[in-house]
Amino acid sequence: MSDDPFQRSQLDYYDQSAEQYESGDGIQRTLNRAFERKARILMKSLGVGPWDVVLEVGAGSGLLTWFMAQRLRFARYLALDLSQGMLDLARKRLAGKTSLEFVRADAARTGLPSDLATAVIGCDIIHHLEFPENALREWYRLARPGARLAILETNPKNPLHWRFIGVEHEVRSWLNTDTNLKRWTEAAGWRDVRVEPAEVFTPAGPKGFGWALDLLDSISLCVPGWRRLSAMWIITAVK
Ligand SMILES: C[S@@+](CC[C@H](N)C(=O)[O-])C[C@H]1O[C@@H](n2cnc3c(N)ncnc32)[C@H](O)[C@@H]1O
Repeated sequence: MSDDPFQRSQLDYYDQSAEQYESGDGIQRTLNRAFERKARILMKSLGVGPWDVVLEVGAGSGLLTWFMAQRLRFARYLALDLSQGMLDLARKRLAGKTSLEFVRADAARTGLPSDLATAVIGCDIIHHLEFPENALREWYRLARPGARLAILETNPKNPLHWRFIGVEHEVRSWLNTDTNLKRWTEAAGWRDVRVEPAEVFTPAGPKGFGWALDLLDSISLCVPGWRRLSAMWIITAVK
């Protein structure tokens, strides 16, 4: 699909590691607690309704998609990813949800028609793209006037992220400052761009303690200085 070496390396990594992406010891639970919260955060900033056409970019194995599909009513939901391996997992997870469509495409060159989506969402996709501005411009093209963008992106300042030091497919994550994310999004044409710490600070923790960690996360968000260590940024914007 791609002659671009950066994109090729991302694709190879995700195609080959799709099964392990969420099969390690306890990881399923980790991701589920985290993703339930991520879905909640995105829903809060978007307010999607039954008339909405949602485009999820870099949907991967469909973890976020699963929670969004459980909780939301929408007219259409397109889950897009470059990796067939990841999309196969998403299809399996979401089998039976007929309102979902899975699209295999490069996030920066989707081939989809303009003015398609009323909401563009995603999680941890921007730092997997060599030229984020190009992808953000493509999502702008796909968005209808007035459509909202809400993307969660990893914050390299959070100590949990430091495990990715030297990890090749995460190499661009170190560029994820709020300044860069805002600059790329604005350069792509989006307006009212905001990049804020999201309410995600802690790791999964043992089963049954999710409520305590959620509480800790909510408190962390209120502490000036500390809040900038959130594991995720949330980028919001409007077309
Ligand atoms: C860290 S995973 C995130 C997946 C999912 N959003 C999640 O949070 O679990 C990054 C995803 O980006 C996808 N990806 C990488 N480059 C891409 C590109 N150029 N276009 C579309 N998807 C891409 C990968 O296949 C992978 O599924």
